[in-house]
Amino acid sequence: MADVFEIMHTTRAMRRLKPDPVPDDLIRKILEAGICAANGGNAQKWKFLVLKKPEIKKAVAVWYKKAFDEVIGPRYASSPPPPGSDPAKFKRQHAAVEYLTEHYHEAPVWIVCCLEDGPNPSRMSGASIYPAVQNMLLAARALGLGSTLTTRHMLFEKEADAALGLPPGVRSYAILPIGYPMGKFGPVGRGKLSEFVYSETWGQPYAEV
Ligand SMILES: Cc1cc2nc3c(=O)[nH]c(=O)nc-3n(C[C@H](O)[C@H](O)[C@H](O)COP(=O)(O)O)c2cc1C
Repeated sequence: MADVFEIMHTTRAMRRLKPDPVPDDLIRKILEAGICAANGGNAQKWKFLVLKKPEIKKAVAVWYKKAFDEVIGPRYASSPPPPGSDPAKFKRQHAAVEYLTEHYHEAPVWIVCCLEDGPNPSRMSGASIYPAVQNMLLAARALGLGSTLTTRHMLFEKEADAALGLPPGVRSYAILPIGYPMGKFGPVGRGKLSEFVYSETWGQPYAEV
């Protein structure tokens, strides 16, 4: 098995997924990796909803697509490539994002990552679920499964959470569509470390990178 650094360096958004079923023992391994993550106060206020049947996935995908059509699509069309990308790569990313938008519900498994987050969720709330989300993405990659951290359904959070059938006091923070990837895992590209790291004073380069 690949070492953890190789897994991290090749855990990319895999948006083109085969419809082939994912064995239950692999889903269990991914979920177990998820609940290894730290969370505030060790309170474990997380819940993970596993969806395989199409009905609910299709109902949520309607909101995911509406958010693309009204917000994300136009934003992609008018934004420059981010650090670590270039116009050609950014165009491919846009195409992949559009592909997932059309095929979201076809991913054989979704893991919907939720929190019982109380009446006033904040940035601190999210900090108690995203480590679990990242653990699951890394676990999926290590098992040869593709996924993408998706949050766009939250642009219509009330409607999407209702479609997911979440009870009051529970919110979704991420949906991981999981399946065997059509393409190959490639290296992650985010730009140079020196663009993002400062030393002692904001803006001062960190000489070690
Ligand atoms: C907080 C967050 C939310 C994201 N939401 C979505 C999403 O809703 N749909 C999607 O296709 N990708 C989503 N992504 C994936 C990013 O767009 C992806 O990491 C980026 O395109 C870079 O791709 P790469 O990881 O393959 O380099 C999200 C990533 C993060 C961290």
